[in-house]
Amino acid sequence: MQTGRRLPVTFVRGRGCILYDDSGREYLDLVAGIAVNLLGHSHPDVVAAVTAQANQLIHTSNLYFSQPQVELAQRLVELSFPSRVFFCNSGSEANEAAIKIARKWGTANRDGAFEIITTTGSFHGRTLAAVTAGGQHKYSDPFKPLPEGFVHVAYNDLDAIKDATNVRTVAVMLEPVMGEIGIIPADPGYLAGVRSWCDAQNLLLILDEVQTGLGRTGRWFAHQHHGITPDVMTLAKGLGGGVPIGACLASPRADVFTPGDHGSTFGGNPLACAAAIAVLSVIERDGLVGHAAEMGDLLHDALLDLGAKDVRGLGLMQACEFAEPRAKAFQQSCLDAGVIVNAVDDHSVRLVPPLIIDSAEIERAHSTMRKAAT
Ligand SMILES: Cc1ncc(COP(=O)(O)O)c(C=O)c1O
Repeated sequence: MQTGRRLPVTFVRGRGCILYDDSGREYLDLVAGIAVNLLGHSHPDVVAAVTAQANQLIHTSNLYFSQPQVELAQRLVELSFPSRVFFCNSGSEANEAAIKIARKWGTANRDGAFEIITTTGSFHGRTLAAVTAGGQHKYSDPFKPLPEGFVHVAYNDLDAIKDATNVRTVAVMLEPVMGEIGIIPADPGYLAGVRSWCDAQNLLLILDEVQTGLGRTGRWFAHQHHGITPDVMTLAKGLGGGVPIGACLASPRADVFTPGDHGSTFGGNPLACAAAIAVLSVIERDGLVGHAAEMGDLLHDALLDLGAKDVRGLGLMQACEFAEPRAKAFQQSCLDAGVIVNAVDDHSVRLVPPLIIDSAEIERAHSTMRKAAT
């Protein structure tokens, strides 16, 4: 189906931060499958884990226990906060789980409250509830009527959340850095303010860390930059190193699902969980969270050199915004010169490379982007 416009290139092979097209041409990948390939392409540990698991057991469903699933849940909880984990297959599904948790929690704890406050410009996925939660009408309006119960307010505006709160409100749902709209980080104090407001008003705080989680911003989870913990956190993208998997973590306060409430046939199957365990192990073993912070600073400096109107980001989640509408032409010039970047709209370009990127690769990207920007 014609659901999106594709760039005129077909990739057939990848290794580290390098992709090869069907003519054997090499490209430096600063997009990483849209913030997915944290360890680059075909990382040997992920390949080995998937191969071994495929030889052992690929799928059984959630009617039974699975060792990789239990181990992965345990690892995620140890890295984040005390919680239970629901596994699914994508970021949208992880957010659907979070929305259903909020609604059930509201029935039990806030007199049937069901409204979720989210932000204008946010992106939470493409399923009907997730696309309605996201604050971008261009993605949701064609699919009206939309589910009720979502209110959008400006990002980085705590007063707007306070003003929008009423007896129907059950939760606030935010990205710690808005990604799809072009990398807008939370201002200092914003998330801490929202956390306090949620505590004072007895609301759930849901953080969508689908793009920001797992080292991308220079911490394991972006909320750790802000000294807060959410009640519910969603993950996907990089978790499986390219193998589809999503997760929704609920703290004891938000742990309301009981048997029969929710489910997924494929969610957290042994193959995806084995890949994810390998991803977490390599991030830990190779110190990639700190490395992402360091490389993020280098990438930020490289973008500052392009003469753009604005450069913003956190860790290896960076964007530049041009004053003129030339992001798409810039993306094409970079592609022609063998560097993959992502124009999110006419003005802004997003860079979310693998966490394993090194300084030589950033320098190579820098010199190509400089030529493309002039
Ligand atoms: C913050 C955020 N949430 C949710 C999603 C949706 O994830 P998926 O495409 O895996 O459904 C995305 C995808 O870009 C995202 O960036």
